[in-house]
Amino acid sequence: MYPDVRPRRLRTTPAMRRLVAETSLEPRHLVLPMFVADGLDAPREIPSMPGVYQHTPDSLPAAATAAVEAGVGGLMLFGVPRAEDKDARGSGGTDPDGVLNRALRDLRAELGDATVLMADTCLDEFTDHGHCGVLGASGEVDNDATLERYAEMAVAQAEAGAHLLGPSGMMDGQVASIRAALDAAGHQDVGQIAYSAKYASAFYGPFRDAVGSSLEGDRRTYQQDPANRREALREVDLDLAEGADVVMVKPAMAYLDVLREVADRSDVPVAAYQISGEYAMITAAAQNGWIDREAAILESLTSIRRAGADIVLTYWAAEVAGRLS
Ligand code: PBG
Repeated sequence: MYPDVRPRRLRTTPAMRRLVAETSLEPRHLVLPMFVADGLDAPREIPSMPGVYQHTPDSLPAAATAAVEAGVGGLMLFGVPRAEDKDARGSGGTDPDGVLNRALRDLRAELGDATVLMADTCLDEFTDHGHCGVLGASGEVDNDATLERYAEMAVAQAEAGAHLLGPSGMMDGQVASIRAALDAAGHQDVGQIAYSAKYASAFYGPFRDAVGSSLEGDRRTYQQDPANRREALREVDLDLAEGADVVMVKPAMAYLDVLREVADRSDVPVAAYQISGEYAMITAAAQNGWIDREAAILESLTSIRRAGADIVLTYWAAEVAGRLS
C-alpha cells in the first residue's frame, strides 16, 4: 500500500491533461439557434443578447452557411413575424408563407442535407397573446386544441424542409400528436428533438426580446416548476413513450442535476439548451471585464456536456465551432 497518492501527477502538463480529459467538446455537438424576422430592413442586434441578431430572410442564408462551414451540428430556427401578423391562433406558424416556413424552405434549398435543420414547433412567436398555445373560454391555455395546431404546424414545417422539429410548448401529448400527424402526411423520416423537461425560467427574459414576445403573465401552467426533479423524469418517460427521437432539458446551467438524471435513463440522444439568459449573463460579465469571456464560454459548455448532454444548443455554437476546428 502506497499512501502517497497524488492525483496532481495527471495534471502536470497540457499534454497530460489532454490525455486524461473525460469530456470532449466538438463542433458537431453544438446547435446554433437562429432568429429570422419579417419587416426588418437589415439584421437587428438583440439588445439583451449582444452579438445575436434577428436576421432578415435575405441575411439568414449567409449566416447559416457560415455556421455550417464552421462545423456546427445543426441549426434551430425561430420565426419572428410582424406584430400585425400575429393572431389568437398563431396562424403565421402554420401558413406555408409565414416567416419561419419560408426561411426553412430557403435554407433547405441552400444547404440540402449538409446540416440538420431544426424548427421551433411552438405558437408563442405567432400568437398575439404570446402563449405557447391557443386559449380556451376562460383564458386558460387549452391543451388539446393546441395539439391540433401543433400537428398542423409540424406538417407545414416538414413540408418546408425541416429535418427535426422542436416542440417546445410543454403541452401534454404533443410528441405523440405531432408523430401521428407527420406519419399521416408521409413524413416518417422527420423526427423530433422534444423539449421534454422545460422549466418556467426567469432566464428566458432576453429570448422574449429576441422574438418580440407579446406575453403578459407567465407560463407556469405548462412549463415545469423549478422545484421539481422527479416530474422531469416523468415528462421524459412520456416523451420517450410517445416517440421522441431526442429529448431535451432546458435551461441548462441551473438544471445540470436534472440533465444528469435524464442522460442516465434515456436511450435516445439527450440535448440541453443553454438559453438566452445564460448567454446574457456571461456576455454582460465579460463586457464588464469581470470574467474571461472565452474561458467562461468553454467551461460552461464543457459542464453541460459533462452533465450528460450529447447535443448543446448555444448561441455561441458557430463561434466555438470555429475556435475548436
Ligand atoms: C418557446 C421557446 C422559448 C425559448 C425557446 N423556445 C421561450 C419561452 O418558453 O418563453 C427560450 C430560448 C432562450 O431563452 O434562449 N417557443
